[in-house]
Order: sequence, then C-alpha cells, then structure tokens
Amino acid sequence: MTAAVAEANPAPMTPSAPTTDQLFALVERLHADRPWGRVLDAGTGAHSLSWVMGLPTTAWTAVTGGEGGKDQLARRHADRVRPQDRLIVGDWAEPGLLAGELYDVVLADYLIGALDGFAPYFQDRLFARIALHLRPGGWLYAIGLSPMPDHAEDDGGRLILEINRLRDACILLAGHRCYREYPDDWVRRHLEAAGLVVEHSERVPILFRARYVNGQLDVCRSKLPLIRDLGLRAALDQQIEDLRRRALAEVERTGGVRFAHDWVIAAHKPG
Ligand SMILES: C[S@@+](CC[C@H](N)C(=O)[O-])C[C@H]1O[C@@H](n2cnc3c(N)ncnc32)[C@H](O)[C@@H]1O
Repeated sequence: MTAAVAEANPAPMTPSAPTTDQLFALVERLHADRPWGRVLDAGTGAHSLSWVMGLPTTAWTAVTGGEGGKDQLARRHADRVRPQDRLIVGDWAEPGLLAGELYDVVLADYLIGALDGFAPYFQDRLFARIALHLRPGGWLYAIGLSPMPDHAEDDGGRLILEINRLRDACILLAGHRCYREYPDDWVRRHLEAAGLVVEHSERVPILFRARYVNGQLDVCRSKLPLIRDLGLRAALDQQIEDLRRRALAEVERTGGVRFAHDWVIAAHKPG
C-alpha cells in the first residue's frame, strides 16, 4: 500500500469543522496555562495545522504521509509559516523520521484511524513511536473517532451508517484502503504501554451535518471512475445520489444528526 493511494481518500472520517474546533477547544482547556513550546502535529491536515498555527508556539513541525497533502497545505498556509516551522512528508513506520528531535507537545489528531491507509498493522506501535519525540514532562494529545456501532436506534443514525458503508464499499471496489478507527480504551492502553500517564479522557458526541453527508458521498463519487463494471458503476451512482437526497433532508429536518462520538485523551510523559 503506498501513501499515494491512501491520499486519494480525503480524510473520510473527520466529521465537520465545528466538531473539530470543539475538540481543539477542549485540548486548549486541558493544556491550561502551560506553555506550548515546540509542537509536533504528527498527522497534520487543514484543521489541525490552522489550529497549531494559531497557538503561541516557539516552533512547530507538521507531518503528513503524502506529498499531495503537503503541497496543498504548503500553498494554503505559505504566509503563516515562520523560519523555524516545518511541514514534512514522512512515515512513522520509518525509524529515522525526526530522529533525536524532542517536542513539548505532540498532537495525534485523527491519525490513528488514517494509519491503515499508510502503514497498515503499525497501529500498535504508533503511540510508542511518536512518544519518542516527547520531552520528559511533555504532553501528548490524541483525538479520534470511536468505531461506529453496527446498528443505530433512529433514522438519523441509520443514515450515517448507510453513508459510511457505501463510502467504504466504493473505496474497496476502487482498490483502495479504508480508514480503521480505534476506541478510546484501546488508545489509553497503548499510551500507558508507551510509558505515558493518561490524565484525562473524554467522549464528545458528534453532530453530523450537510458538510459530512456531502463530503463522504463525494468520496464515493470520486471512486466511481476506478470501478470497471459499468453497470455496477451506474447502480452505485444512483445509490449515492438517492442517499444524498435522503440524508440531506434528514439533517435539514433535524438540524443535524447526533450519533456516535469522538474522543480526546491527554497524557504526559513523567519527567
Ligand atoms: C485524517 S488526516 C488527519 C486530520 C488532520 N489532523 C486534520 O486537521 O484534518 C491523517 C493524517 O495523518 C497522516 N498519516 C497517516 N498515516 C501516517 C504515517 N504512517 N506516517 C505519517 N503520517 C501519516 C496522513 O497523511 C494525514 O496527513
């Protein structure tokens, strides 16, 4: 699996900008008045990089797994990068990445779920690997999406599950890899195994809006040209637009679908 293929899936699980902002606001509250110092954004993207750039850091390093992602971010934020800041392409499975560098804060924002597309089967090593870059006394903040349940209690939740299944089916039929999410207790166990002390763990309910519906169904649509069978392609196309119509009507009617949750975990390295 190459990074280039995984990159073709644009952050399929990031629910929505308002939800993400709420998660960063929680991280800021948890960090309280400690200085941010040197920050490592270990799985960067448009949201986390904008947030990190707005913090009073002394320097930041942002890592992404794909060249395309890096170029897009570099273009978008060119005017906000200071000489001491770095946006780099790398793979945490490579032992040499950032060898010897230490940071005051390490952020893993929706990184664990994306790992399957870039370094499959490395998930159990990820937190120990990025914790190598935390100075003693430093803080690691992990943010992620809990795996969705198999069933939902109401129409809204059922529509979100239907969207996710259709998205993953299209990704697989196109020959690409899906994201794989992990629950908060799995992450806590691995942070502790990495020698960190978990100080806070919180679940944050998600409100899915039109942006999520369109974003995920657009991922489906982008995969269609890669499906050879024209009959299957046409049937999926119809399915995508029918689901879009039903899901948009539901979020319009309800003001958003409340379903599933994200998690935010704060851990520190004893110093
Ligand atoms: C879902 S995106 C993260 C969302 C991002 N924080 C945002 O603000 O939208 C996952 C990021 O982790 C990166 N990534 C995934 N696996 C990686 C690996 N093995 N090594 C380095 N980066 C990786 C991806 O390239 C991408 O930049």
